[in-house]
Amino acid sequence: MEEKFLELLKQVNREGIEDLIAFIKKTDFFKAPASTRFHGSKEGGLVEHSLKVYEILKYKVENCIEKIEVPEESIILIALLHDICKANFYKVEYRNRKNELGVWDKVPFYTIDDTIPYGHGEKSVMMITEYIKLTPEEKYAIRWHMGFTEPKEHYSTIGVAYTKYPLALLVHEADLEATYFYDT
Ligand SMILES: [Fe+2]
Repeated sequence: MEEKFLELLKQVNREGIEDLIAFIKKTDFFKAPASTRFHGSKEGGLVEHSLKVYEILKYKVENCIEKIEVPEESIILIALLHDICKANFYKVEYRNRKNELGVWDKVPFYTIDDTIPYGHGEKSVMMITEYIKLTPEEKYAIRWHMGFTEPKEHYSTIGVAYTKYPLALLVHEADLEATYFYDT
């Protein structure tokens, strides 16, 4: 998974990409889960989810009923890095639970420890742009990838963004499909 992820990211020809890759390698990105309790709550869940979003997004762009032109670089950056905000975000804690023999065991579980409390999509954009430039389309697509799971006060802004950048809507759809069809 890590190799496939890095192989794709190295295809991006943009100033600063090497520094961004070095930063990602220093974080827990490749070990992190995709969530604490629900989808992809396991070691490596985040990288697995990100690669699945890439696969689905690529398919969606190529087969979109409304023809859209998107550079491969954008698909790679958006899909692989939309959730980079979850790097260094989870930690493992332990709780006591009785096992089937009635003996207390220490059971690990994920909890959130947000070291960069800047939001979600907006945080991913901020973290990426500390290393490389993103196009407006890439920024909007990452910023609004959570779509209508954002607070309802954002709905009209999201609607305007999706009209302006159809790719952003496809990213949200790909994220949902990766989460509910594949993350276990
Ligand atoms: Fe996300």
